[in-house]
Amino acid sequence: MRIFLLLFVSVLTLLVGCTSSSNSSSAAQPKEMVLGHNQPTTHPIHESLVDFKELLEEKSNGKLELKIYANGQLGSEREVIEMTQTNAVQFTKVSASALEGFSESYSLFSMPYLFKSQEKYREIMKKPVIQEAFYNTTADNGFIGITYYDAGVRNMYTKDRIIKTNDDMHGLKTRVQPSKTSVQLIESLGGTPTPMSFGEVYTALQSGIIDAAENNESALTDNKHGEVAKHYFYTEHAMVPDILIMNVDTYNELSEEEQTWIKEAAEESTALHEPRWDQKMKESKEIAEEEMGVTFYEVDKSSFMESVKPLQESFQKNEATREQYNLIMEEGQDE
Ligand code: GCU
Repeated sequence: MRIFLLLFVSVLTLLVGCTSSSNSSSAAQPKEMVLGHNQPTTHPIHESLVDFKELLEEKSNGKLELKIYANGQLGSEREVIEMTQTNAVQFTKVSASALEGFSESYSLFSMPYLFKSQEKYREIMKKPVIQEAFYNTTADNGFIGITYYDAGVRNMYTKDRIIKTNDDMHGLKTRVQPSKTSVQLIESLGGTPTPMSFGEVYTALQSGIIDAAENNESALTDNKHGEVAKHYFYTEHAMVPDILIMNVDTYNELSEEEQTWIKEAAEESTALHEPRWDQKMKESKEIAEEEMGVTFYEVDKSSFMESVKPLQESFQKNEATREQYNLIMEEGQDE
């Protein structure tokens, strides 16, 4: 099935090439583009990407078309980023954590307790000065950032262990996103990090390869982790945004008007996403509690904040992220 899809996407890519190169001779022919991502179609991010598609097609009066492949059909986040680099797909939505291997600046988002509150985080992520500081850092790697989508607050969840303070995490086999900073984060909390792609987490929890993971509430419901992990702890250790990225050559080949449609559709879909996200997280919590038997716990957050201080300090000193770090701090974060 995956091979068939990849072949299909390759043919579509050829079509994109054809339609863009024959642009002047057949102006009426739509430009077809492909977006692949790893969440199920019930997930709020998928719904917001559908908003992006519909807004784009509406604004361009059908001149730009977008086909979305959800559910990791095209591969893991890393694989689809690589497909975006080679223009096998034109867009993908990935966690900022997955971009760390392509531009170190993105590692900053995995810094524990970077943002003071979710409101601040949202406000900052929408500022053009912040977007400019991150989105073009991958242009030499074949893609650029287009917009961000709130991916919530990341919290710990376990199969069996009850966590009240950071001490309770000692030796806990915890899945992390495949990024250096995510590994460092769990190490600094005394756990044993196990990097793996998101699609593998359910089975790894079920088979006991890992005992814990960390993510927003929808991981319990949309991704079904609540079937195997019954304890969710509000450590609130990070807010790692999702980033919509696009192949840079495809972007540059578009007319200014077409680029504007993309930017506007992206910005509007980001705004629609925020209230949807809040509503969906509330629903996820209710479903997890009432239908899946998951218990939600408050923890002694200060013990977690204390343990990650050295990691936070290493970010403050890191040349590769200093400019972006200072910009984020300047946005009223250190009030
Ligand atoms: C979030 C994020 C995904 C990512 C996942 C993960 O759910 O939205 O893009 O894959 O975290 O932990 O890997």
